[in-house]
Amino acid sequence: MLKTRDCGDLGIEDLGRDVVLAGWVHRRRDHGSLIFIDLRDSSGLVQVVLNPSESSEAHSIGAEFRNEWVVRVWGKVSRRPEGTENRDMATGDIEVTVHKVEVLNPSKTPPFYINEEVEVDEALRLKYRYLDLRRARLQRNLALRHRVVKYIRDYLDAEGFIEIETPILIKSTPEGARDYLVPSRVHPGSFYALPQSPQQLKQLLMVAGFEKYFQIARCFRDEDLRADRQPEFTQLDLEMSFVDEDDVLDLSEGLFIGLVEAVTPSKQIIKPFPRLSYAEVMDRYGTDKPDLRFGLELQDLSDLAKGSGFKVFSSAIEEGGVVKGMRAPGCGGYTRKQLDDLTELAKARGARGLVTLALEGAANGAEGFTPDNVRGIASRHLSGEQLNELIARMEGQKGDLLLLVAGPRKIVNAALAALRNEMGSRLGLCDPNLLAFLFVVDFPLVEWGEETGRWEPTHHPFTSPKEDDIPMLDKDPGSVLARCYDMVCNGQELSSGSIRIHDRQLQERIFKLLGYDEDEAQARFGHLLEAFEYGAPPHGGIAPGIDRVVALLAGEESIREVIAFPKNQSAIDVMTGAPSPVAPEQLKELHLRVTLD
Ligand code: AMO
Repeated sequence: MLKTRDCGDLGIEDLGRDVVLAGWVHRRRDHGSLIFIDLRDSSGLVQVVLNPSESSEAHSIGAEFRNEWVVRVWGKVSRRPEGTENRDMATGDIEVTVHKVEVLNPSKTPPFYINEEVEVDEALRLKYRYLDLRRARLQRNLALRHRVVKYIRDYLDAEGFIEIETPILIKSTPEGARDYLVPSRVHPGSFYALPQSPQQLKQLLMVAGFEKYFQIARCFRDEDLRADRQPEFTQLDLEMSFVDEDDVLDLSEGLFIGLVEAVTPSKQIIKPFPRLSYAEVMDRYGTDKPDLRFGLELQDLSDLAKGSGFKVFSSAIEEGGVVKGMRAPGCGGYTRKQLDDLTELAKARGARGLVTLALEGAANGAEGFTPDNVRGIASRHLSGEQLNELIARMEGQKGDLLLLVAGPRKIVNAALAALRNEMGSRLGLCDPNLLAFLFVVDFPLVEWGEETGRWEPTHHPFTSPKEDDIPMLDKDPGSVLARCYDMVCNGQELSSGSIRIHDRQLQERIFKLLGYDEDEAQARFGHLLEAFEYGAPPHGGIAPGIDRVVALLAGEESIREVIAFPKNQSAIDVMTGAPSPVAPEQLKELHLRVTLD
């Protein structure tokens, strides 16, 4: 080794020791006679002092040092003079008095500060990702990611799981996104697909008799990117044989409680994780990924709205829609501008508008709410009795703001779910130290795709319907519930899984329902269908997204902050310039011609 010790590991116990250190010049302060350098390696920082009375040669070489130069120093650990200790630094009690230095590699001036946690344009950060990664934030995040993955591996190992790698060059397996394709040189005109997940392969491993499998698996999906989506990302993919829903959920719950307690012990978790049905969360929160750190639940007011004289309400009900609302405690004093902002938010989710009622309340002594003390257009159109009934249903108090949306159920839910999140954060209810996990269960098996004009799987085509609902597959597919589940935390979907179909006939029925004709099903999934005829055990699994889990634990908004080399929002690797055109010879070899129209 070029060094005998790591910078961040030195302490009082090393006083008087001779050490050789190597690292980066993090910060330097040149006081003329004395030069102070904070030397950084991956363990942390230590202060190094160049004193001409120790070595004039070392001092004059050190005078040339600039930030981010890679240097090596020889010296002795000494106590910092009294009053100069640095409480903000782990090694702040000591310093290293140096008598010899060597420049291992100078550095150009970096395009942004490495030694300060300042906001830097993301494009620049991604272009110089190797410098960005030197900064404390990303060093911390990637170390956390390592600990998360290590914990998972150890936990599952102790539970009797084995880790098995599955191929990256495979046949397409649908997860609802477009495939990344890889042309075959030796089979002109044929393509591999990169796995959107190892879904079919893990099921085949169950057929192969591995009862507990897992893998830290890279997945590839060509889809619109967002803060929580990357074109390639990592899943903890796991699968178990001879299990039902509760077995998979119990395992996941144990794993995640253990994980949080081990790697981020300062975070609070609500235990046990609630298990709520899809129907219930949609009703109470308007979304299948509710943030349970706070209440602000939605109320269905359709029955009250039905006969009301307020056209916005009554016509929504007549058209088969609903009226739902939520209470924003203490927000009755919102200004017109604040209310307009909330209306815009609702409109962005497709709502026609937002009905607000500010409960100004009666003057002292007077009882009840009247159109005179409830501010909002609806109060003029509702009778005093209707108004009071509605406010009572929503448990409205003087000083509150009620937010109501009327229209088709899907839109009403989406708008109110967005408003609920907005109010949760405006009211400071999203405690960053609290992790409110839950499982959402009993999803519908399929949904009608308005654009595709066919039934689409809510989860994926390999999910088992509930036994009791199988007879409904032909009569009313939309009413069939699936044996699938999501794990949600603080308003984010972290994980998804299901008990699978393991019977050929049932799988064929589902393919048919999803619009695959027999030939297509055979061509795409013949291997799986055939495998089901050779003693496939009942099985099920789940796949938490590692990037999302680490981002959540790191307190980061975007998963890009926990991935060493992420793509930008346009799926470009800004550092290497991928994707990029290739040489004509390469295309020729692959029997490909590019047409850019
Ligand atoms: P699903 O498609 O729901 O299920 O994915 C499971 C989890 O993977 C994460 N995830 C992503 N993370 C980052 N970027 C993306 N583009 C992205 N897409 C998904 C999410 C998500 O909850 N084979 C099934 C699992 C199973 O049934 O066992 C599957 O892949 O955290």
